[in-house]
Amino acid sequence: MSKAVEFKNVCFSYIQNDDENYFLNNINLSIDENSYLALLGKNGSGKSTLIKLMFGIEKANKGEIKIFDMNINEKAYEIYKIASLVFQNPDDQIVADTIELDIAFTMENYSIPSKEMHKRIDEVLEIVELSNKRKDKVHSLSGGEKQRLCIASSLVLNPKILVLDEPTSMLDAENRMKVIEVLKKIHSMGTAIIIVTHHINEIEHCNEVVFMDNGSISFKGSSDEFVRALIKNDEFHKLNMPINFKLAYELYKNKNVLIDKDIFNYKKVCESLWKYV
Ligand SMILES: Nc1ncnc2c1ncn2[C@@H]1O[C@H](COP(=O)(O)OP(=O)(O)OP(=O)(O)O)[C@@H](O)[C@H]1O
Ligand SMILES: [Mg+2]
Repeated sequence: MSKAVEFKNVCFSYIQNDDENYFLNNINLSIDENSYLALLGKNGSGKSTLIKLMFGIEKANKGEIKIFDMNINEKAYEIYKIASLVFQNPDDQIVADTIELDIAFTMENYSIPSKEMHKRIDEVLEIVELSNKRKDKVHSLSGGEKQRLCIASSLVLNPKILVLDEPTSMLDAENRMKVIEVLKKIHSMGTAIIIVTHHINEIEHCNEVVFMDNGSISFKGSSDEFVRALIKNDEFHKLNMPINFKLAYELYKNKNVLIDKDIFNYKKVCESLWKYV
């Protein structure tokens, strides 16, 4: 299986010529091409820095970063065709006045013929469920719709990997779910996904989790393993956990009952709890 992302012995500091105190110190990370990975960690732990290095926005002081076997320092133009990045705030990303022009922008940069462009605009709007808004002005969209527009724009070149830095953090629960549904659809169509998030329950839809702590990767494993780690480990409990995880943690600690499989099913979490109160 080909690797979507590889970090080998990567060191990075925001301070120039600071070889002694790297913020990211010797990062090794390998992400499969079929991965749907949640990148978690407290504020300032280094999630966005890792993403910036992946896209060459910041340059590593040491080590090697490859996207689908291409070195980010040597093949940036090719990598931008197959790897797309979506930011937290849609307004940082939207460049045009209307939805179809915004989506067309990237394709114009890559000289895609006009007929193909129109077809692709239709396709990506359908994926993000905004087909009925094609001619609308961007400013008429809600926050959730704007974020889905950014996702649509990021899909035009049919990327092999889509990376999203906190795409749901400015959205209410309903719009968050819509974005998640769109991401599930994109992943099922064969695109690897990395999503940075503070919403721990979003790992329900992921198959892998990376947890960062103070510039290091302190956990990498399946989302099932991470669920168990969250329920069992005091260390993770310091995080701002959602209520289902808090209850599961207390149940495990006090009654030694593990409800990892049902953790995202609130009804089952409550049923387990009633048995012991
Ligand atoms: N341009 C920069 N110059 C100097 N330091 C920076 C810069 N960007 C980030 N940092 C520092 O690097 C550390 C990691 O920041 P980063 O943005 O990667 O964290 P994060 O995990 O994405 O946090 P958040 O959850 O708040 O988005 C922080 O201490 C931050 O202050
Ligand atoms: Mg960040």
